[in-house]
Amino acid sequence: MNRTPLLIFGAFLTFGSAWLGLVAYSYVTLGQLQPVADENTGGVNPPPLSGLAVAGQKVYAANGCVYCHSQDIRPRYLSADIAREPEAEPPVRRTVARDYFRDQPAFVGFLRIGPDLANYGLEKRVAAWNDLHRHLYDSREVVSGSIMPSYRYLYKMRKISGQPSNEAVTGLTGPHAPAPGFEVVPTEDAKVLAAYLLSLKRNDPLPEAPVETKE
Ligand code: HEC
Repeated sequence: MNRTPLLIFGAFLTFGSAWLGLVAYSYVTLGQLQPVADENTGGVNPPPLSGLAVAGQKVYAANGCVYCHSQDIRPRYLSADIAREPEAEPPVRRTVARDYFRDQPAFVGFLRIGPDLANYGLEKRVAAWNDLHRHLYDSREVVSGSIMPSYRYLYKMRKISGQPSNEAVTGLTGPHAPAPGFEVVPTEDAKVLAAYLLSLKRNDPLPEAPVETKE
């Protein structure tokens, strides 16, 4: 008996049902997600990224930050992610599919070799601008023994001519600190990357992710 048609049908059924479940179903349920209007601010949530942050997202992708950092806040009953940000106003919440609809690709991440960065922009902001650059330039400037790679190639070491630049990274003391008369300034890539990191926050209200109060 020739079983070839049955075999082909079986293979089709196996791959077809996997495709339906994983690709088609997700596409139908999540593919058309749009931002939702926010009555309090008059804007939309999640808010669009600034132009600088969009450029920074590309640098984030190109440098493989996602291999060590997630951007994924898990629900309160599963983790301490939300409890880590007790001060945030509006309060932080778990992340949902709509949070990533503007990201190409989405940086959900799967490993936390470094801390989750989904809410990095909440506490740090402008005051930390210089610290953030010190960290990216050489992470051991900020955290001794850090295993985060150095992104020194996103910075330029140059001789100070006249006044030092007001963009220069200050307070560098480690082995890669500039010699007297030299300064370290961020390239355009480092500046937009910092803008992207400081824009990261997941506390805009979304209907499908209500704020979870403490048990
Ligand atoms: C090999 C893994 C690895 C890679 C790749 C990596 N990091 Fe990290 N990162 C870490 C670790 C570990 C820490 C925690 C120790 C420290 O602060 O240095 C960290 C800390 C950080 C922090 C401080 C977080 C906080 O809450 O204080 C920021 C910001 C950061 N990384 C950004 C980046 C960016 C941006 C990239 C890509 C350009 C990147 N990291 C790539 C491992 C990594």
